[in-house]
Amino acid sequence: MESILIIGPGKVGTSLFRALKERSFSTLRLCGHHPQEPQNTKPLYPQEFVNSLNATVVRESSLIFITVQDSAIAETVHSLRSLPVHNKIIVHTSGLLSAEILSDLKKAGALTGSLHPFQSFPQKYMEPTVWNNIYCTYQGDPAAVDRLEAICKKLNCLLKPISVEQKIFLHLAATIAANHSVALWAMAEEIIAKSLGPSDRAAKLLRPVIRQITENYLEHPVQNILSGPVQRGDIQTVRDHIEILDKNASELEKDIYVKLSRWLTENPGFPVSNRQKLKDFLDQYDSH
Ligand SMILES: NC(=O)c1ccc[n+]([C@@H]2O[C@H](COP(=O)([O-])OP(=O)(O)OC[C@H]3O[C@@H](n4cnc5c(N)ncnc54)[C@H](OP(=O)(O)O)[C@@H]3O)[C@@H](O)[C@H]2O)c1
Repeated sequence: MESILIIGPGKVGTSLFRALKERSFSTLRLCGHHPQEPQNTKPLYPQEFVNSLNATVVRESSLIFITVQDSAIAETVHSLRSLPVHNKIIVHTSGLLSAEILSDLKKAGALTGSLHPFQSFPQKYMEPTVWNNIYCTYQGDPAAVDRLEAICKKLNCLLKPISVEQKIFLHLAATIAANHSVALWAMAEEIIAKSLGPSDRAAKLLRPVIRQITENYLEHPVQNILSGPVQRGDIQTVRDHIEILDKNASELEKDIYVKLSRWLTENPGFPVSNRQKLKDFLDQYDSH
């Protein structure tokens, strides 16, 4: 049975703690660098929390997750370096950084890696279902794979070993899917607010559309779920939209509309009517 230490009681760390607590028989400890705030202590027994690293805590752990912010990983490695890490498995959960940042711990005899949950954790202590069927990519010591796979099984997620180069591509894709989509929703809200006035109406109007698109994406290949003026090859509507943006939005927002429309017309996977005419039309607006 693993004895697990999670360093970094933030969104990922506490959500991992909660899921492991409900789904595994492992001994668990969460380590922060301040005393716990009362409102955050609910799912935690006092003995499950420590507010600093020490030799005893590390000695008693077989597997250590570093779930601090990317910018605090080096400092955490520095603190662990002088502690008994030999033979421990130590992984961080950053999507961007590789296992290389743990090299000092590897030199000290630990098996090191980067185990990145391909999921969004916007809050602390999320429901354990947030782990269901997600991929955790793993880059690092192959000798740690079997035990990490066993933990992933408990979490009801899948471990996917990848290379350093693949890790960067996946992080980029996740950023586009998870973060840039949010930027586009926010832009759409602003445009609604420009016409209806600021209120929560924009979100209420958009939510059913976003929900339906998301459901379509979950059920069908992405090329089959495109609708709207670009898919119909409706140049007049695209022209009207660009004019509205010209008068009511920033140059950047207009540019984003034109560039994304162009991207769709240039991607042969999407069934775009009137493709060449639409492309030629958009070319005149595109500042490249
Ligand atoms: N959130 C996501 O959606 C997500 C998804 C996948 C992967 N990740 C990765 O997971 C890691 C954690 O992200 P997060 O979003 O959970 O960050 P977060 O919510 O900011 O949590 C980080 C936690 O680590 C604590 N911490 C910082 N330095 C520490 C130290 N020396 N010792 C102990 N605790 C320390 C922070 O406390 P203070 O705030 O008091 O400094 C905070 O509680 C990052 O590498 C991130 O890239 C995040």
